[in-house]
Amino acid sequence: MNLRLQLDTTGIDWNVVVYILQNAGMAYRTPDMHARAFNRSHTVVFVFDDENLVGLGRALSDGEYQAAIYDVAVLPAYQGKGIGKRIIQTIITQIPHCNFILYASPGKEKFYEKENFKRMKTGMALFVNGEAMKTKGFTE
Ligand SMILES: CC(C)(COP(=O)(O)OP(=O)(O)OC[C@H]1O[C@@H](n2cnc3c(N)ncnc32)[C@H](O)[C@@H]1OP(=O)(O)O)[C@@H](O)C(=O)NCCC(=O)NCCS
Repeated sequence: MNLRLQLDTTGIDWNVVVYILQNAGMAYRTPDMHARAFNRSHTVVFVFDDENLVGLGRALSDGEYQAAIYDVAVLPAYQGKGIGKRIIQTIITQIPHCNFILYASPGKEKFYEKENFKRMKTGMALFVNGEAMKTKGFTE
């Protein structure tokens, strides 16, 4: 592997972003929607192996004290090699004075606990598709 991190959206092929999210079993949208979402995010991280995009993540933030992490995904063939950890650590390093919140995919909580994230007792969400998120195990 010849890994390289990119911290902006220059030259990103948004079709590949869709492909990675889809293959990682995550929610995905159209390439244009992901382009707008990542371009409007405070912090973005893309991981390349040579010229191939293999992982990504982003944070919404005010840049001062609050941040929320979304769309952390690694291509299945590259999972378990420390790339997810690098994505999380790189996001945090960009805005280290912030509180970070996120919701883990059910079953992925341990990955975040290893990076010192704690389970929240009072997290509340208003999802666009509430029933689907309940079925997927995100809400009670
Ligand atoms: C979850 C995900 C981002 C982790 O990335 P990754 O590159 O595979 O993880 P890493 O290799 O960096 O693992 C870091 C540590 O977390 C652990 N870990 C990773 N996934 C885990 C899981 N599902 N359950 C428990 N531990 C996990 C690893 O064993 C490793 O531990 P170590 O540091 O003690 O060796 C990646 O597997 C993925 O894209 N999964 C599908 C999409 C997804 O669920 N994204 C998260 C949405 S909340």
